[in-house]
Amino acid sequence: MSANVGYQNNVKQINQAGISGLDIVVTGLTKYLGGKVLYEDFDLQIARGKITCIFGPNGCGKSTLLNMIAGLLQPDKGQMKFGGKPRSQVQIGYVFQNYRDALFPWLRARANIEYPLLSAGLSRRQRQIRVEELAQQFNVGFDLDRYPYELSGGQQQLVSIMRSLATRPNILFLDEPFSALDYEATLAIRDKLQDVFAATGVTIVMISHDLEEAVYLADHILLLTKRPTRIAERVVFEASRPRTLDTLSDPEFVSIKAHSLDVFRREAS
Ligand SMILES: Nc1ncnc2c1ncn2[C@@H]1O[C@H](COP(=O)(O)OP(=O)(O)OP(=O)(O)O)[C@@H](O)[C@H]1O
Ligand SMILES: [Mg+2]
Repeated sequence: MSANVGYQNNVKQINQAGISGLDIVVTGLTKYLGGKVLYEDFDLQIARGKITCIFGPNGCGKSTLLNMIAGLLQPDKGQMKFGGKPRSQVQIGYVFQNYRDALFPWLRARANIEYPLLSAGLSRRQRQIRVEELAQQFNVGFDLDRYPYELSGGQQQLVSIMRSLATRPNILFLDEPFSALDYEATLAIRDKLQDVFAATGVTIVMISHDLEEAVYLADHILLLTKRPTRIAERVVFEASRPRTLDTLSDPEFVSIKAHSLDVFRREAS
């Protein structure tokens, strides 16, 4: 009982009015897959310049949601606006759920990162400069002239993230970017992602299947229900950045994680 009261004091729920500066507004989203409803009249707001982590049961439609917002999959109904603009007017970066399938295997790491810049019409010299900038920003310690199969999983995922940021997107989507990585690589890339966020202020929307990781990285944690999928709750975690391993034992962190787990248990079963 007393623990519950503690959660209530510590956990701030935000509503639409509580987010200052929206980057993504989804209204009336409806999507059926395989004849079953996944989303029905679903609304969502994502704050600008924040990290939002999405956490929900397996198969509730997290990847489908990101794919629809990113314009890779058509919803049956609904509207999406990005700072009031349509999708065609914003730059989006996307890191896919499975890094093994994400990179072009016939291209060296460098050429993979350059690929969106080539599509955008940048000269060879401009592309080289941008890759060097990213390599410095990410403190890359391996040879970017290697092919993906010559790199570790963590290195390949880093290349995927660098590629997604090459065109300086306004919004970066990451679908379980650490799920196939070992713990050491996960910690290292998580912290690099925090550094990039601090340096660029890019809006980040990340799906995670690890609640601890979601709370650790997020300003806003979006807890989803089982299908038909709704937002069970939005939770705010305002600890200062950079967050470190000490954050994991911070009482506010512990309380918010416990509260989120309670909501998840209630809504996922
Ligand atoms: N093309 C499709 N046709 C029919 N059903 C589909 C299709 N793609 C996905 N689904 C189903 O829709 C649901 C949502 O899938 P999605 O991959 O978005 O879930 P998720 O929350 O990302 O899952 P996970 O936690 O496994 O990554 C799942 O039940 C999946 O089996
Ligand atoms: Mg998924």
